[in-house]
Amino acid sequence: MNLTIAGTGYVGLVAGVCFAHVGHTVTCVDIDQKKVELLRSGVSPIYEENLEAFLKEGIASDLLHFTTDYRSAYASAEAIFIGVGTPEQSDGSANLKYVATVARQIAESVTHDCLVVVKSTVPVGTNDKVEQFIKDSLINDVCVEVASNPEFLAQGTAVHDMMHAARIIIGVESKNAESVLRSIYAPFNLPIVAVKRRSAEMSKYAANDFLALKISYMNDLANLCELVGADIEDVAKGMAYDERIGSRFLQAGIGYGGSCFPKDTKALEYLAKQHGYNLKTVGAAVAVNTSQRTVLFKKACNRMITFNGIKVAVLGLAFKAGTDDLRESPALYNIPLLLEQGADITAFDPVAEENCKKQFNFSMTYSPTVAETLQGAQICFIFTDWKEIKETAPEEFKRLMRTPLVYDGRNLFDPAAMKAAGVEYYSIGR
Ligand code: UDX
Repeated sequence: MNLTIAGTGYVGLVAGVCFAHVGHTVTCVDIDQKKVELLRSGVSPIYEENLEAFLKEGIASDLLHFTTDYRSAYASAEAIFIGVGTPEQSDGSANLKYVATVARQIAESVTHDCLVVVKSTVPVGTNDKVEQFIKDSLINDVCVEVASNPEFLAQGTAVHDMMHAARIIIGVESKNAESVLRSIYAPFNLPIVAVKRRSAEMSKYAANDFLALKISYMNDLANLCELVGADIEDVAKGMAYDERIGSRFLQAGIGYGGSCFPKDTKALEYLAKQHGYNLKTVGAAVAVNTSQRTVLFKKACNRMITFNGIKVAVLGLAFKAGTDDLRESPALYNIPLLLEQGADITAFDPVAEENCKKQFNFSMTYSPTVAETLQGAQICFIFTDWKEIKETAPEEFKRLMRTPLVYDGRNLFDPAAMKAAGVEYYSIGR
């Protein structure tokens, strides 16, 4: 089929290359000329496993195109996917200006009947508004329908998640919209859940916020475990065997970050508030996550007289391993607290260092290896679950640090092994 994708961020680009990979003809539209040129040359602006390989393959087979000329890209498409950003606003609501811009451009450009598919995460009811908005602004006498198709890809495994999704959710109001989407997804051979548009929009928040709740529940329990002398890792192990609970997203730590959970929890809370409803469960997850971010720092404050002039090793900057993304990363909440107290920080991150330098002006030193970061440090904080950090031998902390004092926000080490190596070790919920 002939598909157009609006937006070449995580959502749009991954969808575009995967649709081309299964044989559709795809045109990706972006307003950023430089990005479009980069993509045309086969280079991906973001790192994701297999993304660049699929990109090159799509270009070589002439199934995948990139353009800034939205008019021609929208004019003849059978389906147009909207994958632009919906950033969080200061009150927690989602900013829909990019979605609205694309909707207007579509209305002004389409010359054939087509299906507009909203992939961006949008508040419940947005698809109705987008459809009305397009219908009101159409220039040509064509029929445009809107469908919802939320995506569930996680950073670091985005291409795999799209190709092997647990399910494809489509929110449709007509048989025609359902059959177009079923044809588009047929080559993926995945379960398709067809529901009404508003339910599809809600499913995205429901799934993400449930996972955020799951993590916050474990973090909340972890804090209680410390008080009663239990170990959250053992507790999680026992829970995981229960198929009704499942083994994933039970990892206690320094709080969830990234572009989805913090944003989607706040957006759903905001949506509920708008309707005069207090969504207490999600509110609790947000509150737990906010306090969890500084739980280690507070522990360390109880142990130290001062951070002034203290050599601090920070291991990990990204919000999770496998990405260079810093959005809502726990490290970003702790580094300013440490700097405010006069700490002398050296930080390590195998891929997010450049992003951190570009985006923040932290007065700290960066180091290319874990060992160099630990050298002479008086205290160490672990904020990301990178393999490079996890694989450091406990003895190395003892050997390299001036005082082997470690605060681990990801429970990467066995407390007994750290103790045996002579390291004073604090983690979460153990
Ligand atoms: C998430 C969802 O997984 C994905 O389906 C959705 O479309 C977008 O949001 P992502 O933000 O890329 O994806 O990362 P994910 O792996 O889900 O982790 C989110 C955060 O939770 C990270 O900060 C991670 O470290 C944290 N986390 C995850 C935990 O603290 N404990 C866990 O058990 C799992």
